[in-house]
Amino acid sequence: MLAIIGGSGLSQLATLDVSHREVLRTPYGDPSGTVTFGQIHGHTVMFLARHGYGHVIPPHEVNYRANIWALTQRGARAIVSVATVGCIRPDLKPGDVLIPHQIIDYTWGRKNTYHEGHDSRVVHIDFTDPYDPGLRALLIKAAEAAGVVVSDSAVYAVTQGPRLETAAEINRLERDGADVVGMTGMPEAALARELNIPYAAINVVANYAAGRADSRNGIRFDAIEAVLEQSMGRACAIIESLMEEGAYGDPSGS
Ligand code: HPA
Repeated sequence: MLAIIGGSGLSQLATLDVSHREVLRTPYGDPSGTVTFGQIHGHTVMFLARHGYGHVIPPHEVNYRANIWALTQRGARAIVSVATVGCIRPDLKPGDVLIPHQIIDYTWGRKNTYHEGHDSRVVHIDFTDPYDPGLRALLIKAAEAAGVVVSDSAVYAVTQGPRLETAAEINRLERDGADVVGMTGMPEAALARELNIPYAAINVVANYAAGRADSRNGIRFDAIEAVLEQSMGRACAIIESLMEEGAYGDPSGS
């Protein structure tokens, strides 16, 4: 079964033929909300809104451990994350969709591992490729099949939030090699790797990063909403196309 974690602008999947919702509990606390189960192209999919229904949980307060644990324990065989980002790389613009291939983690103070406490083993996961290459390839193929133009690689800088960045911070992220900036990619990706579950992301560019282009004099939040309304549908089209291929799907509905 494929699990989808939706971010800002995607608190439900319009194309999901909903069957039921489940409240899942974990040893790490409660996930962001109930998990919605439904069918896309005859395959069962689980959906979780990262910020809760009604968008009430800020990026630094999301219980990433509970979210990834709950989806995995309930039978997810792969997780696709949908998240908005600001763009830094000059060829990107608001509305663009991309499949990132790398992460730089600037977050702090988040619960970022399942392996902690005095009982725990010391575990170092390999994180050279933070996104599952096989799932990334499937997303890129699904986008092509759906006629959605995507940038098939990007370095995603994950900042702590909830505030947006300063113009100087964006210049620094660019010097570090970042193409886009968001607040939720970590520790989500690392936790999925700790549980050995394939994880990849679809990023939708919501705005130019601070100090760049239209955001030269500040970020206009009213414009972001309009961009997401128009472009989130293309992220959903990629997921639909992925399900049409039957990737990670289970027609028996388990
Ligand atoms: N910065 C950080 N996170 C974001 C942005 C941004 O500009 N846009 C959407 N998420």
